[in-house]
Formats: sequence, structure tokens, C-alpha cells
Amino acid sequence: MTFISQNEINEIRSSASIVDIISSYIPLSQRGKNYFGVCPFHEDHSPSMSVSDEKQIYKCFSCGATGNVFTFVENYLNVGFAEAVEIVAQKIGISIHIDTSHKKESKFQKEYETMDLALKFYQNNLNTYRGEKALAYLKERNLTLDTVEDFSIGLSLDKDMLYTFLSKKGCEDKMLQDLGLIQLSDTGAYDVFQNRIMFPIHDLEGRVVGFTARCYLTDVTPKYLNTRETYLFKKGNILFNYHRAKEAIRFSKEVIVVEGNMDAIRLYSVGIKNVVALMGTNLTKDQIEALKKLRAKIILMLDNDSAGETATYMVGSTLEENHLPFEVVRLSDAKDPDSYIIEFGVDAILENIKNAISFTDFKLKYLKKDKNLNDANDLTEYIKAVIDSLKNTEDAILKEVTLQKLSSDYNISYAVLKEQLGSSEEKQKKQVIKEEKIEKNKKKSSYDKICEEILFYMMHSPGFIKLYQTQLGIFPTKEHRLIANEILYYYEMNKTICLADFITYAQGTELKSQIMAILENVNEKVLMEEDMLELLERLKKKIKKQEIERLKKELSQEFDEAKKTILAEKILEIKGSVADENY
Ligand code: CTP
Ligand code: MN
Repeated sequence: MTFISQNEINEIRSSASIVDIISSYIPLSQRGKNYFGVCPFHEDHSPSMSVSDEKQIYKCFSCGATGNVFTFVENYLNVGFAEAVEIVAQKIGISIHIDTSHKKESKFQKEYETMDLALKFYQNNLNTYRGEKALAYLKERNLTLDTVEDFSIGLSLDKDMLYTFLSKKGCEDKMLQDLGLIQLSDTGAYDVFQNRIMFPIHDLEGRVVGFTARCYLTDVTPKYLNTRETYLFKKGNILFNYHRAKEAIRFSKEVIVVEGNMDAIRLYSVGIKNVVALMGTNLTKDQIEALKKLRAKIILMLDNDSAGETATYMVGSTLEENHLPFEVVRLSDAKDPDSYIIEFGVDAILENIKNAISFTDFKLKYLKKDKNLNDANDLTEYIKAVIDSLKNTEDAILKEVTLQKLSSDYNISYAVLKEQLGSSEEKQKKQVIKEEKIEKNKKKSSYDKICEEILFYMMHSPGFIKLYQTQLGIFPTKEHRLIANEILYYYEMNKTICLADFITYAQGTELKSQIMAILENVNEKVLMEEDMLELLERLKKKIKKQEIERLKKELSQEFDEAKKTILAEKILEIKGSVADENY
């Protein structure tokens, strides 16, 4: 393993031209001092991303995405920090190699290593005489040894065999229980997974965090037993096969989403590698974020049964609400993509994928389910449901076509349908405005905004850091103080501050999201000393006003005359020092 120091990272950063690197991925054109391109981090067609050669950072005026050359590569290629450093280094002809297993310094290093040990144990069992039946089962299911290898499939054994193995390796009982591998009881410890085929589950970065385990000797319930939620395994953060599929998704710009791990394994093993599986059927916020990051069209191909159909409707609606581009595949004559491929072959499923339908087409059919359209009530319900489902669609042509189709299919006046859609959209709009208002109320106070601006200045030059120290000394609010301390610490260590390098440093801090949020929130501008001084003055006034308010409240609740006098004097003193006349 090569260890690269912060200095070396900074050196790579400053040797690489951000304009060159970004323009190797997206076209940039020069306008004045800066370069502009279409931001790849949100849906856009106009060049709203500016890249500063001078500052070596980028910023999108529309979505706020910002960072240095490493953050761009991380987010654009959807890779980790270390890999981004490696890619940038490679592009400028510096050869470094960072061992993947050490890419992310983690406080759970030991836990991850233990999961890897458990995996090795399970994998090994499959190749012993104890694994014969399991191997036969896998063969029966048309899984080749290559696939078993690719997916690190293994086998759990009787009673406490894993526990004994890991204990000998020095693993502590408590940690093994916390990882969901063993259960401690009065009579001793036993393995959570016994006599099951073990499929490791990796997190988005490819670390083993849990297992899904299928019975194979006899049909027992549950068919699949999963690792319970642990501090490594959060089911809602995971998409099965994501880390393996990333490369293929980037290449094909499509990601196939299936229900079961076996479906993902099957598709992958026949060469359709751009596939991930939902673990369960509802999509969580984190999973949506992970899908968004791929910037690929989603092909939703869930099971063929009625549960799969309902899931398609639910997951599809979530995808639509989040404005993710997707299409739907409904297979017929087989239970799921896995059995479909076994029965009809790869070409047949590729044909189905090619003929994916729009979500609207799916809904037109789905909403008909269990309805008798010859019945006036059912028909009314159906038409209302279809129209209601259009309210989230931004595609005006699609709306028009759907209304026309409804009108001619059911012989209903187009105008009536249009009006119904109008009121449905009106309701939706009102709902959105209401939500926006709630959001606005949650928005930052002017106090927070001033503090953020000051921090923004401080990240840009030592001069501004000095002004903060001499003029203010310290933020009274903890959240701002912590960020200021990070900046001061960085400055102490480096004797200077360079925003592009500070961004790299910030990525390693606990406060990274707050620091990045400040960079996103505050608009780029020419930073002048007098503006910083004015900000500091405004903040000082605000702090005093708050102090006065606090003392006034105290005064109103005080009964002791002597204490009251002291409080009143304090208030007058502070008031006197506030230049603001009208206070
Ligand atoms: N699942 C689960 N627990 C169960 C059943 C299912 O966690 N008791 C999850 C698994 O991740 C599974 C997915 O739901 O992959 C889909 O379930 P199902 O369609 O029943 O499984 P298949 O993928 O068809 O599994 P197999 O082919 O092995 O029967
Ligand atoms: Mn299935």
C-alpha cells in the first residue's frame, strides 16, 4: 500500500489544471476569466457551471454544486476520494497507486475486516466435502462456478462453526453479535446463519456489510434470512450489486433495477452487467440518491406477479416524484427475470428491455386492474386516476397524447378531461407552494447568513482569518465556531489557506457537509476587505441585540431590586456601545 500525505495530495491538486481535467469530461468554453459548461450534476441544457482557472474550483450557479478537481472527478465518475486522486494523478502523468482496501480510513476498520473473514469462511466451506450439496443446488439453479466466484457465494455451517473460527482469530463476542453474525445466549454463542447459501451484500463502495442467506436443503421459512440492521448494514442504503455494476452503467448509461438478488446475479452472469437489485421493494431516499448519482436511465424490471406489479407502481411513482428518467419492463410467462432468462434466453430479455414502455403506458394498464370499464362508476374512477397520475408529469406532449387517447377510447369530451387535469394540477401546485412555505420558514436566519458569509471569506485568504480573530475573536454560536476552528486549524498547519486545497481537507472532517453547504450557499464574488469588516460589524451588532433581549427577559423575571438595577445598568451599557441610533 502506498500512503499519500496531504502534502502530496495538494501537490497533485496544484499540478493539475482544473480546466484541463473537467474539459476532458465535459466541453468548456472560455468567457472572460472563467470557463463555462453544462453542469453534469443536475438536469440542464445551458452552461451554468463556471470553472475558475485562477481559484481552481468549479461552481454551478443553478444547483450550487461546487468543489475542486477531486470533488468533480468523485462526483462525475461516482468514485471515492482516493480513486479520484489516483485518476487525476494519472491524467497529469504522476503514477501513484493506492491499495483499495485502505482507500477509506474508517473507524470501523476492524469490523470490515471481520466481515471479510466471515466471507472467506463461508466461501471456503463450499469447497469442502460439506459443500457438496450446496454446490449441487447452485448447479441445479444454473449458476456456474465462475458466477459463484464472481459473487463470492458461500455456505454457512452448523451451530457455532463461524463463531469458533472467528474467536480463534481473536474477534470479540460483542463485536460479532453487533455485526449480526452470532447470537450470544445463556447456553453460549451460536451462528445467526446456519446451513444456508450465503450471498454477501456490499455497500455502495464495495465493502461487505451483510449477508442474505437462502435455504437449500429443505424449504424452510424464511426462504431468505438477511443480516439485521447493524451499524454497517443499513438495508435502506444498499442496492445489491451496485459496486460491481457501476462501471457498466457508466458505459451503457442505463441501469436495470430488479427485485431479487438472484435476478441481478442472473443478468450479470449472462453479460447484462448494468443491473442492481432492490433489497425489498420500497425505494429509500438514500437509494434514490445513489441512483441519481449514476446519471443513467433506469429500466424498472420487477417480478411478474401482482406484488411485482404493485411494486412497479409504487417504485415508479417515487422515481417520478424525484424526476428520475426511467422506463418499465413487464415480462410475461415467467415469474421473474431470473427464470425468464433460463426459459427464454438472453436475447429474449434484451428484446424486452429494448421495448421498455413509459410509466404512463404502464399506469394506463395498471389502473384498469380489477375495474369493469363498462360500469360507469369504475370508468369514472379509472379516468380520474389516470388524470391524477399525470399531475407530476412535466412532459406536455405526453399529457396531450394521454388525454386524446382517453377521449377517443372512452368517448369523453376532450375539454372535460382537460379541465379535470387543470384542477388536479392546481391542487398539486397549491400543495407544492404550501410545502415551499414550510421549507422557507425553516430557512436560515439573517444571523446564520452573516456567519456563513464570514466563514466563506475566511476560507479564501489569511487576511480575512486575521480580521475574524482581531475584530470578532470568536463566534458565539457553536456550529459556526466549529467551522471557524477547522479553518484556523488548517491555517495553523499550513501557514496559508488555499480554497481548492481546503476543500480536500474539509472532505476529511466531520463538518464536511456544513463546509460544502457554505460554499454552495454563498455566491461567488470579489472579496473586499471593507465588505468583510461590514459583515463583522453587523454580526457584532446582532450579538449585542441578542444579549440585550436576553437581559431584558431576565429583568422582567427578576424581583430583587438590587439585581434589577445591575441588569438595567448592563443593558444601558451595551445599548450605549451599539452605534445603531434607532435602537
Ligand atoms: N426477500 C427477503 N426475504 C424473504 C423473501 C425475499 O429478503 N423471505 C428478498 C430477497 O432479497 C429476494 C427478494 O426479496 O431476493 C425477492 O424475493 P423472491 O422473488 O421471493 O426471491 P427470488 O429472487 O425469486 O429468490 P429465489 O429465486 O432464490 O427463490
Ligand atoms: Mn423473484
